[in-house]
Amino acid sequence: MSTLNQAELDGLLATAQGEVLDNEEKLEAFRIAHFGRQGLLKALNERFRAVPGPEKREVGQALNAFKQALQAHFDAAKGSLTAQADAAGSGMDHTRPSGEVPLGSHHPIQVVRREILSIFDRMGFTVADGPEIEDDWHVFSGLNFPEEHPARDMQDTFFIQRNPDLLLRTHTSSVQVREMEKREPPLRIVMPGRVFRNEAISARAHCIFHQIEGLYIDRDVSFADLKQTLLAFAEQFFGAGTKIRLRPSYFPFTEPSAEMDVYWGLETEVDKRITKGTGWLEIMGCGMVDPAVLEASGIDSKEYSGFAFGMGIERIAMLKWQIGDLRAFFENDVRFLKQFTSSF
Ligand code: DAH
Repeated sequence: MSTLNQAELDGLLATAQGEVLDNEEKLEAFRIAHFGRQGLLKALNERFRAVPGPEKREVGQALNAFKQALQAHFDAAKGSLTAQADAAGSGMDHTRPSGEVPLGSHHPIQVVRREILSIFDRMGFTVADGPEIEDDWHVFSGLNFPEEHPARDMQDTFFIQRNPDLLLRTHTSSVQVREMEKREPPLRIVMPGRVFRNEAISARAHCIFHQIEGLYIDRDVSFADLKQTLLAFAEQFFGAGTKIRLRPSYFPFTEPSAEMDVYWGLETEVDKRITKGTGWLEIMGCGMVDPAVLEASGIDSKEYSGFAFGMGIERIAMLKWQIGDLRAFFENDVRFLKQFTSSF
């Protein structure tokens, strides 16, 4: 076994570097021949052991440099082969759709709003919109609110300081008046929107919240139509077989007026708490549109009749997901918002 020296290593390196490794087979053959168990490096290492002590240092350095150069040649060839394969698109389907880009989720108020609107859409209701800054007529007078009604009070209503004739609507019922003034019956509309009341913020109340209003006006509309429509809504929103009840109530703009409850059940402690031990949950206000309201908007109350309803979106979202604190909807903490995914 001849002693290892620089000249021999230089020669071996020149030969190795002269090998053109332009496909996978050549690359693999090179790997086995040089780095394999019976390859060149293995043989050189064995010969290195036989190098006499005083020469070991010098030869060792030469051998290490040789190994690194050999590895570099191999890595470079491998790198360029991979790059070529990528460029040629081998194994890659360029027609494949890209992965989903996470875009966040809808706000729970939006989810419930859309779900409710789509149920009424299937029943033939279209969506109408009205301004958030309103006047007394559309929010109160046109809806038959008496002059001294407490809702008109500074305590409940935000007035615009520079123009006290203007105020922030306290309910979406104002859009009913706008639509009745603007259009001829038949009317079959739902009116979603933000409303404002001068209330201290707490787990149960907020100065800004959302409502969905409904209005149906045509010839011969009866209380039976109201009940059937709202039952159909409740069954689609809360599930088939949902029971409802209508409790007598009072609103200035409907006669008779009612509160609609859905039967929630009394199985768990939570059920008992949220239904206050009755099993029933109040969902919305409703009633037959008062003839005075129709007349105030120029609709002949002898020819037409109708029903109306209004519900709070936050309240329904809280029931749907058992959310205990209204403030969560307004804080917009992503840890809260991320939990709501829906097709709506
Ligand atoms: N506007 C009422 C409120 O904000 C809700 C309401 C009750 C709307 C009865 C209606 C209705 O259209 O018929 O409390």
